[in-house]
Amino acid sequence: MFEKSVYIERRNELKKLVSSGLILLLGNNESPNNYPNNAYTPFRQDSSFLYYFGQQRDGLAGVIDVNSGDEWLLGDDIDIEDIVWYGSVDSVADMAAQVGVAHSAPMARFEEMVKQAVSQGRPVHFLPPYRHDTMIKLMDLLGIHPTKQREAASLELIHAVVKMRSTKSALEIAEMERACAIGYEMHTTAMRLIKPGVTEKYIGGQVDGIARSLGAQVSFGTIFSQHGEIMHGNPSMALLEAGRLALCDCGAETMENYCSDHTRTMPVSGKYTQRQLDIYNIVVDCHDLVLKVARPGVKYFDVHMAVCRLMTERLKELGLMRGDVDEAVAAGAHAMFLPHGLGHMIGMDVHDMEGLGQIYVGFDEETRPRLDQFGTNALRMGRRLEEGFVVTDEPGIYFIPALIDDWRASGHCKEFLNFDMLETYKDFGGIRIEDDVLITADGCRFLGEKQIPYYPQDIEAFMAQ
Ligand code: GLY
Ligand code: MN
Repeated sequence: MFEKSVYIERRNELKKLVSSGLILLLGNNESPNNYPNNAYTPFRQDSSFLYYFGQQRDGLAGVIDVNSGDEWLLGDDIDIEDIVWYGSVDSVADMAAQVGVAHSAPMARFEEMVKQAVSQGRPVHFLPPYRHDTMIKLMDLLGIHPTKQREAASLELIHAVVKMRSTKSALEIAEMERACAIGYEMHTTAMRLIKPGVTEKYIGGQVDGIARSLGAQVSFGTIFSQHGEIMHGNPSMALLEAGRLALCDCGAETMENYCSDHTRTMPVSGKYTQRQLDIYNIVVDCHDLVLKVARPGVKYFDVHMAVCRLMTERLKELGLMRGDVDEAVAAGAHAMFLPHGLGHMIGMDVHDMEGLGQIYVGFDEETRPRLDQFGTNALRMGRRLEEGFVVTDEPGIYFIPALIDDWRASGHCKEFLNFDMLETYKDFGGIRIEDDVLITADGCRFLGEKQIPYYPQDIEAFMAQ
């Protein structure tokens, strides 16, 4: 937990951004895995609740009355049976005091406060719920049909929270640097262990263990696969095979719940083949282009498009694409290779604030996402960059057999794609390189004091150690 003044200042700022009414910020409850007492571990608090109320215990809610300025932390104190099984924790009143909240009360008071505000016709602001227990609680209290929960969420509160959480303070950046330092250990562990004959699950498990053993957790389910062409491929029991590529996309989340997210793609045998290098070097150049062009005021959509053009140019040189580069990119032909966006916001959530609505986090009036084009419809971030934003830079080139067959059969973008050559790449897999980029006053820089090797010669040298 940060100093209490951090949370006091954040709530004061929030009160300035929301015009009137009651703000509800619900913490999470334990989430049962296969029966109530066997919950998923570790417990994960809601990020917006954490941002304003800082407390990690389950079963809490924060309420802010914008008109009076009053603030409450609500929750039930644990009883002797809880203490027997789980040990003692601070009282709700103590937890409130630790984050500078004047009032605390049992959860029953939360329900009374919400019902009273509704009966008085006061605005009640809540964020889109994403866990079913929270949805049901809000739905019952506010008399909203379950199918209308998302649209009933407060746009005013969403915009206020997005505005505040998008810009990372020095404290938050320091925490993300810590997440990157753990990410460095996770990735270099994978690099050290990769060799023919070990299973993907073995590497994935070791990588996860590094995060946990360093007091952190994984910021999302670790992706480790020789099928790099599957965007989110889970580690399987398949044995690593000489000559193939292994893609590792993983990150750490610190005790304060700030995340890292990196991807590296390694040669299982320790040395890339020439065919792999031809593609790998294009991804490196696309990745490095971001460092040259991302700065405050630049639209991340334009950075994405610059990467798509560079990738198309280079794939043309290899003979995999053809035709006019601008026309090919306008038609979305590059999405055969790069079917996702260049990156996303990262912070307390690995896809930061995605639950609040990507349209509000990654876009604005000026940069509405295009939803009618495969690839471009998967962009998560397009709006103008500002100092203090942290975004991922994660270009990739993938050879997806099913997509090759699909486009070939339909003739989609056939004027820009060499399907005969693509056929010979169906066994290639995929390559992605991902780093976390902090937008600074006049440019940008990678987070992470130690850079995880990504130039091919550096990866090969590291793996040879
Ligand atoms: N690193 C996983 C993702 O960004 O989706
Ligand atoms: Mn990512």
